[in-house]
Amino acid sequence: MAELKEARVPDIGGYDDVPVIEVLVAVGDSVAKDQGLITLESDKATMEVPAPFAGVIKELKVKVGDALSEGSVVAMIEAADAGAAASADKPASAPAPAVIESKDDPIVEPVAPAAKPDNIAEVSIAASQAAQAAEAAPMGAGLPPVRFDAEALLPGKVPYASPAVRLFARELGVDLLQVSGSARGGRISKEDVQNHVKHALQTGGAATAAVGGGGGLNLLPWPKVDFAKFGETETKPLSKIKKISGANLARNWAMIPHVTQHDDADITGLEELRVALNKENEKAGIKLTMLAFIMKASVAALQKFPDFNSSLDASGENLTLKKYFHIGFAADTPNGLVVPVVRDVDRKGVIDIAHETSELAKKARDGKLGPAEMSGGCFSISSLGGIGGTAFTPIVNAPEVAILGVSKSATKPVWDGKQFAPRLILPLSLSYDHRVIDGAAAARFTAYLAQLLGDMRRVLL
Ligand code: COA
Repeated sequence: MAELKEARVPDIGGYDDVPVIEVLVAVGDSVAKDQGLITLESDKATMEVPAPFAGVIKELKVKVGDALSEGSVVAMIEAADAGAAASADKPASAPAPAVIESKDDPIVEPVAPAAKPDNIAEVSIAASQAAQAAEAAPMGAGLPPVRFDAEALLPGKVPYASPAVRLFARELGVDLLQVSGSARGGRISKEDVQNHVKHALQTGGAATAAVGGGGGLNLLPWPKVDFAKFGETETKPLSKIKKISGANLARNWAMIPHVTQHDDADITGLEELRVALNKENEKAGIKLTMLAFIMKASVAALQKFPDFNSSLDASGENLTLKKYFHIGFAADTPNGLVVPVVRDVDRKGVIDIAHETSELAKKARDGKLGPAEMSGGCFSISSLGGIGGTAFTPIVNAPEVAILGVSKSATKPVWDGKQFAPRLILPLSLSYDHRVIDGAAAARFTAYLAQLLGDMRRVLL
């Protein structure tokens, strides 16, 4: 005959008055032996109290928020099998163990004992609490816990969820690292997993990374660290420009699959020309910069490879090809990065381009650029050549599809077929949106650009 039995909180490692944060079953539910009944959460760990035997829940003695200790009655269960109930009807001093998970990583897991005794639960707990865990978790066969380094397996990330939720997620094939927790302290609930699955089904999973999808990245919350604990600090708010450009850069970095193609341009002849022209125009106060030549050469490359002068639409399915050539250039200002745009570069000579870039750069530094002077760009150039460096990875300025990074030119020995000759080499780093541009096209574009800079007469062709 079925027997009504108490399910009590087992040995939970000496914790007292631990709040119930989740009731996993309802009256009338059939439960299997070892199935989680409730989840307790101390400030150090999440613990699941398993059913000591299979049966039907007749009465729940606890609710969310109750504080429980070892021996507290959780539920009255009508045992499915009187024999099992009888064997599970142990004194309160030796009830079924809890499943314990720490909120931190790394994790300690037990070796599955060869002959796993009744109600032995798995244990996961922070290494810092390993000794405590070893005591808290009845190991049955007496095998010691085996440490595994969660940090090594999942660098920087271990999802915070109860064992029942982990099991649920495993059954559905859900990677908990992709799920954001909405419960207290960012803990992932069963509903969070369900919502994640619903969302994935509605949006087609990976398609959420498409342009219009908003990302759906479900990233972990930003780490909150009390730095003052480690030393003196001061708070400095980001400038308005940095806040705006930061948000754009973060979106572009997260949503655009970036690849950067590096190449070198031999600008020995071009630099000679630039120096000669500057000398000729010294009295007129005209200064030709390398940037002006690079802009002009970039437009010639954009004309040859029109996909680089395009934007992807929000559906991620169509390109808008532009028949105009407005080139943005990153300008470093005391308040942060801005990108003024020189319009119709294809119709201007390098002297005009140089004049315009220097005017726009001055306006940028003085904080006097208007929105119209920063809009309409087709392709951007970020030149750090005046500062230094040999290569870098610029971030594509969406909705553009490519950006050229320029580093500092340097004289290098180049083999001319007979001997090494000193040549002035300009490093180019082209980052591009790989959804729009293939690697081969990017290599061709960059090589062509290098060829143009090697002999600017080719721009006329
Ligand atoms: N290699 C070697 N020297 C270079 C060079 C290069 N690629 N590019 C410029 N220089 C030299 C210039 O010839 C100049 O030398 P000079 O004073 O002897 O004539 C010096 O470096 C300073 O040039 P700069 O003032 O940088 O002029 P520019 O026309 O090359 O660049 C800006 C103008 C606006 C792009 C530049 O001032 C700027 O703000 N750069 C930073 C861009 C940035 O922050 N990018 C990062 C985005 S993530």
